[in-house]
Amino acid sequence: MDRDFRVLRYKTADDFLKDMILLGKPLETSLVGSFDKEGRGSRKDCELPFHKDGDYTTEYKDRVDIVALYCIKSGKTETLIELSNGDVKSIILQRGECLLINNKRCRHSRRGRVGDRLLLRVWIKEDLNDEAK
Ligand SMILES: [Fe+2]
Repeated sequence: MDRDFRVLRYKTADDFLKDMILLGKPLETSLVGSFDKEGRGSRKDCELPFHKDGDYTTEYKDRVDIVALYCIKSGKTETLIELSNGDVKSIILQRGECLLINNKRCRHSRRGRVGDRLLLRVWIKEDLNDEAK
């Protein structure tokens, strides 16, 4: 991906997923929301400091090129992206919106309560020659 981020729209999660697999290899797909009291930040109602996805795992560290988020249910949570020029962009995802984050170049964070916001997230490896693990 040649940009820091992109915002797209898809009518359905099907349409989103069909497009995402054209960008590269999907490494992991998950639901992001408030499900647990402990464990992974993507499943808890908590704010998150600036980070790159995959960095807290051993399996996907430095392998996630694009973080693709599709908003199934919107909320008030802000997604902040640290752009390559140093600016910070704030996005509140609306239903049907898709946010692609260049995870090689940009860190992102989360501010505010997750509440009942629900996202579908795909981690994508752009380099198709990357050996599957
Ligand atoms: Fe993240």
